[in-house]
Amino acid sequence: YGDASQKIDYVFKVVLIGDSAVGKSQLLARFARNDFSLDSKATIGVEFQTRTLVIDHKSVKAQIWDTAGQERYRAVTSAYYRGAVGAMIVYDITKRQTFDHIPRWLEELRNHADKNIVIILIGNKSDLENQRAVPTEDAKEFAEKEGLFFLETSALEATNVETAFMTVLTEIF
Ligand code: GTP
Ligand code: MG
Repeated sequence: YGDASQKIDYVFKVVLIGDSAVGKSQLLARFARNDFSLDSKATIGVEFQTRTLVIDHKSVKAQIWDTAGQERYRAVTSAYYRGAVGAMIVYDITKRQTFDHIPRWLEELRNHADKNIVIILIGNKSDLENQRAVPTEDAKEFAEKEGLFFLETSALEATNVETAFMTVLTEIF
């Protein structure tokens, strides 16, 4: 979990996007600080956290940007996407609407981000299997059609969170 004294070979900016309350900030808290909170507040504006890891004997500083899913709290879009080499589009597996909005988020990426950006689709809250509203197959099929990586995660249980971030970072690398 990060070592400031380390020499950095690469800095990769990755952005988190998706509807409000899908768990973007908690995925970031889990990845950056191995932390999780059930009473997480809606993000206002933009925040970022970093974690330095070693990939292929190089030290990579992952700079993960997090913004509000709620339109009224969102910051300037173009600045948010500037320089991003990876994106994680997150939905909540228990809220069908958050999955149905994915094409809008993809559209926003296509309008504002670099065309070579590495994108992963994340179905978060996999711990709430009994409330599932989005079948894994639907998301897998959508991701394949759009050429996206795909994983289901749980920030709460720390399932696949590391793998999700590593998938993006390794692919950028
Ligand atoms: P905005 O900042 O408004 O865009 O929302 P967000 O996407 O950042 O959501 P946030 O991380 O704040 O999480 C919203 C709620 O979902 C909080 O109550 C979290 O504790 C909860 N949550 C996040 N991840 C998980 C998860 O994996 N499982 C469960 N059960 N709850 C989660
Ligand atoms: Mg947030």
